[in-house]
Order: sequence, then structure tokens, then C-alpha cells
Amino acid sequence: MIVVIDGPAGSGKSSTARAVAGKLQIQFLDSGALYRVATLVYLDTEKDYHAFFEKFNKSKISFHFKNERFHVYLNDEDVTDAIREMEVSEHVSEVASNPKIRREVNDLMREVVKHDIYIADGRDLGTAVFPDAELKFFMNADLDTRAQRRYRELKQEGQDVSLEEIKENLAQRDEMDSNRAADPLKKAEDAIEIDTSACSFEEQVSIICEKISKRIN
Ligand code: C5P
Repeated sequence: MIVVIDGPAGSGKSSTARAVAGKLQIQFLDSGALYRVATLVYLDTEKDYHAFFEKFNKSKISFHFKNERFHVYLNDEDVTDAIREMEVSEHVSEVASNPKIRREVNDLMREVVKHDIYIADGRDLGTAVFPDAELKFFMNADLDTRAQRRYRELKQEGQDVSLEEIKENLAQRDEMDSNRAADPLKKAEDAIEIDTSACSFEEQVSIICEKISKRIN
């Protein structure tokens, strides 16, 4: 069974999905993290797509959800923190706009979710990757709220970033993610919309938990 949450950067999808997964004891899949891993390889190959694909095709990406944290590995190296660096955020939307990379990431996700109950977050999960998902949500919030949230998160992790820099990065990614040709950020017609500027984190989590519990039962 798969439940998806799509929405723009910083709308609270990941933290909400993580909390829901922890509460209901189901699996969590952060699809953005997989594009971020691909971006690490892209940066490592000095942004040369030919060298990138050569390396990427030989790379192994794995992940697991433990203690409410999504851990990601590139060839068994833990890159959970490295994928959150600003340099990765600055290039990830460019990497994610490549249809060949999207195909690889989508195949990996579709294979994994066959084996358990998952809640996954992304941009195109309800429209392109899992159009038959049992439940679909679309989370949104205004840009200022999203930037503030992301700023607090990154500061807590000890990153040296400014609010302006984050706001600019979120706006740029939204623009690229919404306008790319391959599977753009879009609300699925049958997705339940949640505006997270208007409700508390606990409310978001409980709305989603309630709907999933009803489906499971
Ligand atoms: O979720 P997060 O902000 O970490 O995602 C990073 C980037 O990965 C997004 O800005 C987007 O470019 C890309 N992405 C995507 N499709 C998804 C998930 C993420 O294109 N399903």
C-alpha cells in the first residue's frame, strides 16, 4: 500500500510524512533524497552528464527509515547529512529535470514499495509515479512560511545559511519543478489539499493518520 504527499519545497511534507510513519509504524520514503543523492554524483563528476551517467549506472543507492530519520547511502557510504548541503539544493532541480534520471529513481521507488506499507513524499508521486496510490495529499504553504521553516531546520543542523538565500533557493526550485517537461510538480486531481500555513503540525499529522487508519481498517 502506498500513500503519497506532494507539494512544493518546504511545505512540511517530509516532516509530516516522517511523523505519520512513526506513529502508524509504517515505512517512509523521501523521494527528494534520492534526487539529492543523484546530485551528489553529478557534483562529483563536475557536472558532466556523460561522466555522471557512467558513474551513476555503477552506483548503488540504498536507504532505510529508522528512529524517524530517513538514512541514505551511496555505495554504502552514509550521505544522509551530505545531501542537505546548500550546494546540493542549488543543483538538485536541474538534475531532477532529466527524464533518464527520473526513470531510474522511479523504478527504484516502485520496486521498494511493493514490499510494505509506505508513505512517500515528493512532487509528482500522485500524478506520475503512483497514480493509483490509495491516498494522495498535496501540502502547500506560502513562500515566507516555508522559508522560515527550512531556515530553522538548517540552523538546527548547524548549517551556515541566511533566510534570504533559502527563500531564493525555494522559489527557484518551485519554478523549475513546476515548469519542467518531465513530470512537473502538480497536484493530482484526486489529492486532498492541506494548507500548512493555516494549521499546526500536530493537526496535519492527525488528519493524515486518521485517513490512513480508516483505509487500513
Ligand atoms: O523534497 P526535496 O526538497 O528534498 O527535493 C529536492 C528536489 O528533488 C526538488 O526540488 C525537486 O527538484 C526534486 N524532486 C522531484 N520529484 C520528486 C521529489 C523531488 O523532482 N518526486
